Amino acid sequence: MDFARYLVTPERWEHIPPDWATAFGRTAPLAVEIGFGNGEFLAGVAQEHPDWNWIGFETSLTCVTKAGRKLARAGAEHVRLALADGRFALRELFPDEGVARVFVHFPCPWPKRSHAERRVMDEDFTRTLVTVLAPGGTFELTTDVLVYAEDTAEDLRAAGFDVTGPVELAEVGPGSRYEAKWRRQGRRIWRLRAERGPKGSTLRIAEGTMPHVRILRSVTPDAVAGLVGLKETWPGGAFVVKAVYLAPHGGSALLRVFATDDGFEQQYFIAVVRDEGGAMAKLDGAAVPFRTPSVKRSVAAVAAALEG
Ligand SMILES: C[S@@+](CC[C@H](N)C(=O)[O-])C[C@H]1O[C@@H](n2cnc3c(N)ncnc32)[C@H](O)[C@@H]1O
Repeated sequence: MDFARYLVTPERWEHIPPDWATAFGRTAPLAVEIGFGNGEFLAGVAQEHPDWNWIGFETSLTCVTKAGRKLARAGAEHVRLALADGRFALRELFPDEGVARVFVHFPCPWPKRSHAERRVMDEDFTRTLVTVLAPGGTFELTTDVLVYAEDTAEDLRAAGFDVTGPVELAEVGPGSRYEAKWRRQGRRIWRLRAERGPKGSTLRIAEGTMPHVRILRSVTPDAVAGLVGLKETWPGGAFVVKAVYLAPHGGSALLRVFATDDGFEQQYFIAVVRDEGGAMAKLDGAAVPFRTPSVKRSVAAVAAALEG
């Protein structure tokens, strides 16, 4: 379990953006890798740049575990890993101009139009980069998909970045599993580097406080069970209560909820706990989501529905 010391769970933090100096136990320039895979790059750069604090974001739990083990074997210091969508995390978990370097290596290109919203680099990501990168801060992309690198270069230039490339990378790049895989297959590898120009801004939606709403009337188990299917949709967001689990004694219930904010999807539980004054609707600790507008709205809607 040595790898667990690298893991952080920012969705549980009370203050967003968090104090990264506390998370690392020291102040140092922050460098971020999105989609670190099995962690080869982070394990290498942590040794090469011990003077930086490295943070990796991954959506695959298997990758987080493998990368954590790799870091532990390498005895790496000053690295933290989080299971989170790197696009959301980079936007929400760092202050303006708080990041020195951002790296993405061999992102899935998602060539089908119907999968395009899964791509890491898009307009929203560019807005995030111009906001969170420090003056002189850089973004670096390594990929085997030239057209992806070219499109990204164009977007970044339009946003005022000083872009170099994409140029073919003859020497070894991040040293990652996918680099090795594509080189074995004889694919060409491309890299672009982009230095931030004028600062930009982006809209952030997450905050630290945990929503909870008091219900000032007696709540029956039947009323809670009837919440399955409760949903709301509005421009930019939606939520739906998918299931309700009642405790055998009837004193509490868990509601499984799906919510989305501009395509950022989360699933979590709302607890309804009966007490002398009525009941309380609040987020349950089993799967804590980032507190986005849709999450807060779902807690309020559950309470309103039970209040009648
Ligand atoms: C093709 S693999 C490359 C992995 C690694 N960078 C390498 O070079 O070996 C792409 C990785 O990005 C991760 N990923 C995809 N979308 C992501 C996102 N929005 N945030 C964080 N990780 C993501 C996937 O889980 C996968 O591990």
